[in-house]
Amino acid sequence: MQYELIATSTFGIEGVLAEELDNNGFKRIRNENGRVVFGAEDDNLTETIARANMVLRTADRILVHVASFEAHTFDQLFDGVAAIPWESWICQDARFPVEGRSQKSDLFSISDCQAITKKAIATRLSKAYHIDWLPESGPLVKVEVAVTKNVVTLTLDTSGEGLHKRGYRPEVSQAPIRETLAAAIIMCSKWNPKRPFMDPCCGSGTFPIEAAMIAANIAPGINRSFIAEQWPCLDSSVWQRVRQELKDAVIEPEDLHIIGTDIDDSVVRRARNNAARAGVGQYIHFQRSDLRDAKSRFSYGTMICNPPYGERIGEQRDAELLYKRLGKVFAAEFGTWSCHVITPCSTFEKLFGRQADKKRKLFNGRIRCDLYQFFAPKLRRPATAVKPEKPQDGNDVEKV
Ligand SMILES: C[S@@+](CC[C@H](N)C(=O)[O-])C[C@H]1O[C@@H](n2cnc3c(N)ncnc32)[C@H](O)[C@@H]1O
Repeated sequence: MQYELIATSTFGIEGVLAEELDNNGFKRIRNENGRVVFGAEDDNLTETIARANMVLRTADRILVHVASFEAHTFDQLFDGVAAIPWESWICQDARFPVEGRSQKSDLFSISDCQAITKKAIATRLSKAYHIDWLPESGPLVKVEVAVTKNVVTLTLDTSGEGLHKRGYRPEVSQAPIRETLAAAIIMCSKWNPKRPFMDPCCGSGTFPIEAAMIAANIAPGINRSFIAEQWPCLDSSVWQRVRQELKDAVIEPEDLHIIGTDIDDSVVRRARNNAARAGVGQYIHFQRSDLRDAKSRFSYGTMICNPPYGERIGEQRDAELLYKRLGKVFAAEFGTWSCHVITPCSTFEKLFGRQADKKRKLFNGRIRCDLYQFFAPKLRRPATAVKPEKPQDGNDVEKV
């Protein structure tokens, strides 16, 4: 039997997620808004679910597509849901909360859709298990009923906590970027671990940490658990095996040059702690520094930056000054580098002093942003040679 699995993502990064699925050998079926659908067979279902949860850096969660059918009335919804063999997914004592969504449909009351779906599943399970009362004291199976243009889609969440929760970032700075979005931006930058990497406004260290995890081939989910690990229908030994295989695949990269700097000392300390927790502390140099002093003795590196947005009244001018400063420093000191900045500022290119080579619409949480990408000039040396240029004296920032 062929199963459809869904990797959900932030709007704007579906293409990156699709590429990640392809590169990891998943059988991609189609891309949709905010999600990518891929397949699994009977004999590799658990392995595919476990692997997708553990290896995908840009997915928010992994869902199982259970069924879709048309419904215009609550009777049709009840009958359609009750016809599904829920007993193959939901064990006798499982807790099965139902979340709902409705869009452009006759069944517009979300609470009614949830209640009817719950009742239909309970009726089906009671019959299947020959019991009148379902204790709901066991493993958690989160069901979602989504009705869009009168088509009902039922999915199960296998992840539990969102996949951005890698477990390394209990200490955050102000406005930290989601780990999944940070990984997507690094992938968009086409950074090669043989090249230097810098985030001059690193906050809690998300970009440098995600970059180091990519370089060390550390799968983002190996140090956390997923709710589907508790489902009796999915063999728990497979989860353990996949986790161990991924742990064995971690490498110790040599000659990594990753630096994160921030003007705030306490934030830099938190970034260091986070990197240590992620197991990449040894690969990143964190330092307190104002971005106006940023320099590097290396060429052809990648700079990624999530600067302050100046959203609060009175802060916008500071943000604009910072963008101007970033543009000046980048032009003066990083002539051979590429630069990738995520910000909602529509006049960023003017302030930075250069037109972006590429602009990509993204959402940072609920904030609609652009990723402004300034590409590096064409490389004149072979791709593997990253030779330090002559060190310059008087730098505030340790040279990467
Ligand atoms: C939006 S936060 C970055 C969040 C980070 N990406 C994360 O995931 O935690 C912006 C950061 O820029 C830093 N910052 C502000 N002005 C700066 C300056 N002049 N030089 C360096 N860092 C600065 C702030 O301290 C703050 O940590």
